[in-house]
Amino acid sequence: MIRTFALAAACSLSLSFSFAVHAQQAPKLKVGLMLPYTGTFAQLGNAIENGFRLHLAEQGGKLGGREVEIVRLDDESDPAKATDNINKLINRDKVDVVVGSVHSGVAMAMARVAREAGIPMIVPNAGAAAITGNLCAPNIFRSSFTNWQPAYAMGQVMREKGYKRVVTITWKYAAGDETVAGFKEGLEAGGQSKVIRELNLPFPNSEFQALLTEIAAIKPDAVYTFFSGGGAVKFLQDYAAAGLRKSIPLYGVFITDGTLEAAAPVSQGIETTLHYSDDLNTPRNRNFRLAYAKTYKLQPDVFAVQGYDAAQMLATGVNAVKGDLSKKDAFTAALRSARIDSPRGAFTLSRSHNPVQDFYLRKVDGKENKTVRVAVKALADPGRGCRM
Ligand code: PHB
Repeated sequence: MIRTFALAAACSLSLSFSFAVHAQQAPKLKVGLMLPYTGTFAQLGNAIENGFRLHLAEQGGKLGGREVEIVRLDDESDPAKATDNINKLINRDKVDVVVGSVHSGVAMAMARVAREAGIPMIVPNAGAAAITGNLCAPNIFRSSFTNWQPAYAMGQVMREKGYKRVVTITWKYAAGDETVAGFKEGLEAGGQSKVIRELNLPFPNSEFQALLTEIAAIKPDAVYTFFSGGGAVKFLQDYAAAGLRKSIPLYGVFITDGTLEAAAPVSQGIETTLHYSDDLNTPRNRNFRLAYAKTYKLQPDVFAVQGYDAAQMLATGVNAVKGDLSKKDAFTAALRSARIDSPRGAFTLSRSHNPVQDFYLRKVDGKENKTVRVAVKALADPGRGCRM
């Protein structure tokens, strides 16, 4: 009797042991998506998630042999809540990887935590220099850009167009400050062209009237701007309503991305620089756009591409270690030598883990940002302050 019991116990022990081993072979890979789902950047967060899920679906929902489970968290583009939010994902939800975010201030707070925790982090938008600068780390990667990159390209374009006196207008926070700095570096090289006034308002304020009145009074040769999401739609409408479209040419970065459903009539002909154009005529981009439109009944934008590529980058790392994220060096090495086959065109990562990529000059035509030409080829962020 005792022996039978012992045998039964041993059997059930070994059974549960073998189940445990089986389960351990492929526990779910938990991915924390920390993105804005409310506020001025809500549409950007949704596009990033859509792109991310599209690539996952193309992989059958698995990476490195592990089924992927997504945990979503709305960060509200609020830097003050960002440290608590990422700690919740790591400590409460036990995510294996974090993907986020859109807002530079939020993403910097995330990078500080991810760096300490050693958990893989992929930034699918936020351009803060520090993320691939003094906060760079072997486990932190970006699928998007630094704020410097598209801004520098636009500075160069506007210098070549011969604008001498330029006013800038943006939100006062890391991304706004860095886009203006990058723009000035491109514009003022050679000493012929100058930023004569830098106008700002706090993020995510969209009361532009007083600043537009100032622009009308200054009468610059041109205006350079960075706004995004809901704020960009409002800016484009207000700039047109103030009558400025006819008198002062408007250029920028991100203002016409994800905004054309709402602001196409007031955006026609606006030129911007970015690492993606809607009409890139490659099989990779055409197939991506078809699949995205079929899945979501929406047209993709640069944010969707960045989300898609964040998933491609994650797949590269996770597949290289066959799902075993404790192999940190191999995960990092795989991404460092990867060539990501993006709808934007293939890119590699710089020493500080930021995309080295072409920047296109685009022009709004209907509801698309159409390619005018490549403005700067294979532009790499200098990664100032990154030591690893
Ligand atoms: C940023 O905060 O880094 C940021 C936000 C929205 C954009 C681009 C950059 O479209």
